[in-house]
Amino acid sequence: MKGSIIVFGGDGYIGWPLAMHLAMKTDDYVVIADNMSTRILVKSVHSDSLTPISTMAERLKAFREYTNRDNLVFEPVDVRDMKAVDDLIKKYQPTAIVHLAQQRSAPFSMIDQRHAVYTELNNIIGNINIIFAMARHVPGAHLLKMGSMGEYGTPEIPIPEGDIEIEYGGRKAKVMFPRFGQSYYHLSKIFDTYNLKLANGLYGIRATDIMQGVVFGVRTHETQIAEELCTRFDFDSTWGTVINKYVVQAVLLHELLIYGKGRQTRGFLSLYDSINAMTLLLENPPKEGEYRTVNQLDMIYDTLTLAHMVAEVAEEYGIKVTMRQIENPRVEKEEHYYEVEHTILPSIGFRREKEMKDVIREIFEDVLRYRERAEAMKHLIYPYAKWRSSYVMDNEAFSLPPEVERPLGREEILRLAGFR
Ligand SMILES: NC(=O)c1ccc[n+]([C@@H]2O[C@H](COP(=O)([O-])OP(=O)(O)OC[C@H]3O[C@@H](n4cnc5c(N)ncnc54)[C@H](O)[C@@H]3O)[C@@H](O)[C@H]2O)c1
Repeated sequence: MKGSIIVFGGDGYIGWPLAMHLAMKTDDYVVIADNMSTRILVKSVHSDSLTPISTMAERLKAFREYTNRDNLVFEPVDVRDMKAVDDLIKKYQPTAIVHLAQQRSAPFSMIDQRHAVYTELNNIIGNINIIFAMARHVPGAHLLKMGSMGEYGTPEIPIPEGDIEIEYGGRKAKVMFPRFGQSYYHLSKIFDTYNLKLANGLYGIRATDIMQGVVFGVRTHETQIAEELCTRFDFDSTWGTVINKYVVQAVLLHELLIYGKGRQTRGFLSLYDSINAMTLLLENPPKEGEYRTVNQLDMIYDTLTLAHMVAEVAEEYGIKVTMRQIENPRVEKEEHYYEVEHTILPSIGFRREKEMKDVIREIFEDVLRYRERAEAMKHLIYPYAKWRSSYVMDNEAFSLPPEVERPLGREEILRLAGFR
């Protein structure tokens, strides 16, 4: 039987290009498992991907036609459904599992209580279902779980890659580095880390918990093969990440919206590098029974410096932008220390693929190309999810679609994925 890798969340911004990349590199099956929920949730805030993404059925057909490869397959699975996850892992007996299938937006989790609860249940239950099924059927397989640099928050001391040694009460101990997540989304990721560590200790699950910084960009080598293979690109204030949002703001508003003073400092990496790093980690798994934390960020910047960089590139396209400071909808330190250890990826051969400005140029090209689609959603650029008012039960402007509050069924997902 052919080997296989499962990519949970393979319909997403990162998952789709990763699944294609893996399918190009191996003859094993690359199994995409997804419930299509990001497509539903982005629409629930009246937004859409700037790039015109194809259905999963169209994506797979196009991939087969353009590459002549038939090892990329789809399975309609909601990770909250323990039986569906169990059946899938039992059926394919994968050697590796990539887990990206989560509600991935911090602002979305801060819309109101309903969105916070949905995010935590979706993310925590899905993760633990994968862990249990792996322990039963493929205990030696490698789980590559996507965490987030946001789990750590912005502590006053350097962030290590793994545990730290502390001295307290006259004794020394190695402990997990404290987490200071600043949204319900980030807290769900922290809980995943604890569950993963426990399962590693109990069942010896071999795991890589990769803490990626903020990902930016719209293209990878595979997405450029044909328009039908493009990945999603979100730019509204809920679903977009900062550099991607800035480029759309430059094109549509000619001004960049800076949260507060713009001194919030984070790590960034391009979509190319996100995919390359995960591929490299799959090729270099941890030892049997090992749990490893990997930090991935390529460049550290504050959001104002990034805005100036986007403004410089905008000029190359004849666009002059101004900076506009707006109230920060988040509750976070605005000026702070930020130092992160990230040595594991370079030690296994990771190198940055493209310079930041080159990736920003690619984003400009695609935003200009799909500008008309963005015009229709221009008003969604301004932030509306405010951290301090997230205590309301229902934010009337943005209700959670009821169909996602329970695991989606097989037939439902196949319909959403364009197979029915
Ligand atoms: N984009 C970033 O900047 C970034 C940075 C760090 C970490 N991450 C993490 O990387 C992962 C992927 O992020 P992304 O940007 O590609 O997000 P995305 O929303 O585009 O992709 C997530 C995918 O998971 C699927 N999914 C969600 N819940 C599911 C469920 N219950 N069952 C089955 N499928 C489900 C969605 O339909 C979607 O296709 C997430 O875990 C995210 O938190 C993203």
